[in-house]
Amino acid sequence: MQSHEIRAKILALSNELKDHNYRYYVLAEPVISDHQFDLKLKELEALEKQFPEFALPDSPTKIVGGGLLDEFKTVPHKRRMLSLGNTYSEEELLEFDERVRKSLGIDAVEYVCELKIDGLAISLFYENGQLIQAVTRGDGFQGDDVTENVKTIRSVTQLLHGNYPASFEIRGEIFMHRKGFERLNQQRQAQGEVTYANPRNVASGSLKIKDAKEVAKRPLDITLYHFLSDQNPFTTHSESLEQAKSWGIKTADHSKTCNSIQEVFDFLKRWDTARHDLGFDTDGVVIKVNSFRHQEELGFTAKVPRWAIAYKFQTETATSTLLGITYQVGRTGAITPVAELQPVALLGTTVKRASLHNANEIERLDVRVGDTVFVEKGGEIIPKIVGVDFSRRAENSVPHIYITHCPECNSELQRNEGEAQHYCLNSEECPPQAIGKIEHFVGRKAMDIQSIGSEMAETLYQQGLVRELADLYDLTYEQVLSLDRVGEKTAMNLIEGVQASKSQPFERVLFGLGIRYVGETVAKKLAQGLGNIDAIMAATEEELIAIDEIGERIAESMVQYFSDDKHRRGIERMKAAGLIFTAVQKESLGDGLAGKTLVISGVFAKHSRDEIKAMIEAHGGKVGSGVTGKTDYLVAGDGIGPSKLEKATQLGVNIIDEDTFLTMIS
Ligand code: IVH
Repeated sequence: MQSHEIRAKILALSNELKDHNYRYYVLAEPVISDHQFDLKLKELEALEKQFPEFALPDSPTKIVGGGLLDEFKTVPHKRRMLSLGNTYSEEELLEFDERVRKSLGIDAVEYVCELKIDGLAISLFYENGQLIQAVTRGDGFQGDDVTENVKTIRSVTQLLHGNYPASFEIRGEIFMHRKGFERLNQQRQAQGEVTYANPRNVASGSLKIKDAKEVAKRPLDITLYHFLSDQNPFTTHSESLEQAKSWGIKTADHSKTCNSIQEVFDFLKRWDTARHDLGFDTDGVVIKVNSFRHQEELGFTAKVPRWAIAYKFQTETATSTLLGITYQVGRTGAITPVAELQPVALLGTTVKRASLHNANEIERLDVRVGDTVFVEKGGEIIPKIVGVDFSRRAENSVPHIYITHCPECNSELQRNEGEAQHYCLNSEECPPQAIGKIEHFVGRKAMDIQSIGSEMAETLYQQGLVRELADLYDLTYEQVLSLDRVGEKTAMNLIEGVQASKSQPFERVLFGLGIRYVGETVAKKLAQGLGNIDAIMAATEEELIAIDEIGERIAESMVQYFSDDKHRRGIERMKAAGLIFTAVQKESLGDGLAGKTLVISGVFAKHSRDEIKAMIEAHGGKVGSGVTGKTDYLVAGDGIGPSKLEKATQLGVNIIDEDTFLTMIS
C-alpha cells in the first residue's frame, strides 16, 4: 500500500469506528456485533502502530467503546449473574405471589420491594473489608473486570468498617442522576461533541472508558441490592442489606418490607407517581422474597430466580419511522391525525399507530413523513410521539400539509378560532359521525341500551335501518332479525332494550342527543334549569347563559343545533315515540351543604360514588372534580391516591370518611 492509501485507510477506519461508537453509546442501536467491532479496532491499532504519523489525535483506539474488550480482563462470575423475570400487570404479580405461597406451602410471605434503577448491573467483591474486584454482567457467565473504573465512583466504598464478613460479593446497579447527565451533555454540546441519548447509556459507556481519570469526571453513582456469600450469616435479604449499610456500603434506598401482596400493590402505586420526583430514572419495582431460606427453597428457573420478579412501570420509549399521517373522524366530527409507524415493540405490544392530536401538535413537533420519531407509551393506552430525531431527517423532507377536506365524506373542514381541532361539520351524513351519534345515544351514560354495541350500531347504519336517532324507535323485530348473524334472541333483546330506554330521564335523553359541548353535567344543568325540551329549544343564547355553568360556547352550540329543522323533527318523532322530554324536579333534602364544594375519591363501603354525588347535590352542595383551594371537604374512601391526600392536607381541606359525611348530612 502506498502511504496516501494507508492514510486514507486509517481515516476511514477511524471514522467508521467512531460511527459505531455513536450508534452503540448514543443511539443504543449497534449495527455490528461486539466481535466485528473488536476486529476493526484491532486492524486500526495495528495500522496506527506501524504508521503512528497517520493516527488521528482523537482516534477511537484511544477512547474505546464496545463489549468485552481485550483491555478489560474478562473474568468468569463466581455465581451466574442472572436477570429477572418481569411483568407489567398486577394480575401476573398476583400469580407470582400465588406460585410463591404454593411452593412454600404457606399463607403469607414477607416481600421486600425495591426501586428498580435503570442503570447497569455490577458485581463487587470485598475481601477483608477491601474492595478487590468489580465485574460487569457481560453475558451472565463472564464479565469485564472494570475495578479501576468503578473505584473512581465516589459512592463506592473501598474500605469497610464495622463487623463485615471476611469475604463476600454484593451486586447492584451503576447509574447516573439526571442532573449529572444534563450537565455532561451541556459540556459535550459546548465542545461540539455528540450528546448522549439517556443516563443509562452514559453510565454503561463510561465504565468502558480505558482511562480511569476520564471515568472519574463522570458523575456516576451506585446502589447495591444483592448480598451473596458462601457462608451467609443472615436470615433475610433486608437484614443483609441493613448490615451492609452499617459497613459503609451504599444500599438501595426507599425499600419496604411488605407482609402481603396488597402492601406490594400500595408500594407500586405510590412509586408509579413519586418516581418522577426522584433525581434518577427508575423503570419499575423489584419484588423479592425476604427470607433467604425461602429463596433457597424456591430456587431458579433456567434463566431467572423464582423468588423475585420485576414489575415495570408503564412507560417506554422507542424509535420508529413515520411512514405516513392518516386522519380519523370522530363522533363529533373532530379530526384526529394519526401517525402510521414502522411497527415497533413497546411494552410488550407492537405499536403501529400513534395519535398526533391535532394540526398544532404536528407543527409543534415539526414532524414530517419519513422522520425518525421517538414513540412513548405511558400509563395511557394510546402511544404518543414525543419528539423527532432531527439528526436523522432526510434532506429532501418537506413539512406536512394538513388536509382541508374530510377523508370520509369530503366536505370542507373547519377550524374555529382559538381551537386546535379541525372539524367536519357534515354531522348527519358523514358516516363515522352518524354511527358515532348512535353509539353515543345508546351508551351507558345516555339511554343505556346495552343490546346495541358499536358493531350493531354500525350495522344498523350501514343497512340503512337507523340513519338518525329517532329511527331507532321505528325498528321492528323483523327488520332486526333480517340482519346477518342476528338470531331471534338477539333481535328480541334489541327491541326490548330500545323500548325500555323510553323511560330514561330527560337529562339522559338530552345528553344522548350528542350536542357539541353538552356533556353529562351540562345536560343535567340544562334540564334542571329550563325544565323541558320546548323551553330549551326556544331559549336564546342569553337565556341559556343565565343558567349556572352554561357558557357562551355551549349556548351557541345549543342554538345552532336546534336551528336545524331536521333536529327539531327528530325530537318530535322521539316525543311521539314516548321518550321523556320533561325534567323531574329534583327533590331537595335541605341546604346543609349550600355553598360547599366536596370532592369524592376512592371506593366507599355503603354507597357508590354516584350515590354520594347525588346526596351532595340533594343537600345543596357542589361536587368538584379535583382538590383545589376552593374545596371544602375531601370525602375519602378506600384506595384514595396519596397525592390527593397530600394536596388536601397542604391546602388545609377537611378530609372526611363516608360515615362522617353521612352524619354531616343527616
Ligand atoms: S435483583 C437474581 N434488585 O434489573 C436477582 N435487580 O431486570 C437479580 N435492577 O439484572 C437482580 N434494581 O440489573 C435487583 N433492586 C434491584 C434492582 C435490580 C435494578 C436491575 C438488575 C437486574 C435487572 C433485571
